[in-house]
Amino acid sequence: MDKVVTCMAPVNIATIKYWGKRDEHLILPLNDSVSLTLDCDQMHSQTSVVAGPFVKKDTVMLNGHVMPIETNERLQRCFSLIRKLIKEKKGENCPEAQWNIRVCSENNFPTAAGLASSAAGYACLVYTLANAFDLVTEDLPAIARQGSGSACRSIYGGFVHWKAGKDDLGSDSTAVQIATEAHWPEMRIIILVVNDSHKKTSSTVGMKKSVETSELLQYRVNKCVPERTKDIIEAIINKNFVKFAEITMRDSNQFHAICLDTYPPCVYLNGVSHEIITFIHDYNDAAGHVKVSYTFDAGPNAFLFILEKDLDLFMSELIQVFPSDKSKSKYIRGIKSTNPDQVAPY
Ligand code: DP6
Repeated sequence: MDKVVTCMAPVNIATIKYWGKRDEHLILPLNDSVSLTLDCDQMHSQTSVVAGPFVKKDTVMLNGHVMPIETNERLQRCFSLIRKLIKEKKGENCPEAQWNIRVCSENNFPTAAGLASSAAGYACLVYTLANAFDLVTEDLPAIARQGSGSACRSIYGGFVHWKAGKDDLGSDSTAVQIATEAHWPEMRIIILVVNDSHKKTSSTVGMKKSVETSELLQYRVNKCVPERTKDIIEAIINKNFVKFAEITMRDSNQFHAICLDTYPPCVYLNGVSHEIITFIHDYNDAAGHVKVSYTFDAGPNAFLFILEKDLDLFMSELIQVFPSDKSKSKYIRGIKSTNPDQVAPY
């Protein structure tokens, strides 16, 4: 009998960004990063795995398209690391290690648009494979990391710290949970989809170019990230929103400064992104302190953080300035996000 398992994994949004690898092959980062994982009923990947003696060959489908495993080193690594684990747990000659695997994965949001799709995708793939083969292990973040770096953080809910580690083989480069999703229930994330088309320069390519050409990158890695990481973890533990929000905005801005310092530059933000940044700072200035913060990944879409008590008033002002096409904003399990509609400046 073939075994069939389906799982979901949510996206995570980095507040201290991962940008730059010290090992391209093992996907080892140059710096620590910190993120929040969304609820699963928000933006997520859903993956089904069929494994067994009757599956003819390994296949992977993403959003209805066949992915060429033969030419995809990351997929191959995830498959082979899972098979290695199966042998370790069940014996070198166990039948499961010989089974072929069929994977079918879908994102319920735009893929490769700077909305952390690879994070959810690889976390979900690895988690589903582990479940299909009953692998109870702490190695899942390290395996997901080798699919896409940021994926190691989506293995856990709540607030997550990916420790860069120092080891050349990556044995100490893994994600740990700072606090569970129940820790700061007042925290809300608003996602403003400015543009949901594929980004021109993928994160993988962009960060490689930054490592090769940006002089600012080393400064950030050595002089800024260590202290910021310590401070934001402290802010999360103490639920200090103002500190959390300020560090998040500073780190996003510095990350995009590095993208501009890259040669040729990687321009991920557009005019609307900058309008959003200005709007948030004006809003906070008028309020007299930081009530809302922004962060942007490798794309123009904004991720805003705000506390529940400030949400309604903020949303009423935001919608006036950035009206959504269908204004179908919705609350789901405490996290509010706009629908993936285009957000245009007023
Ligand atoms: C800007 O994890 O997509 O979202 O490891 O090459 O797959 P690869 O890169 P990826 O990079 C994410 C970059 C980021 C910041 C972050 O999520 O920390």
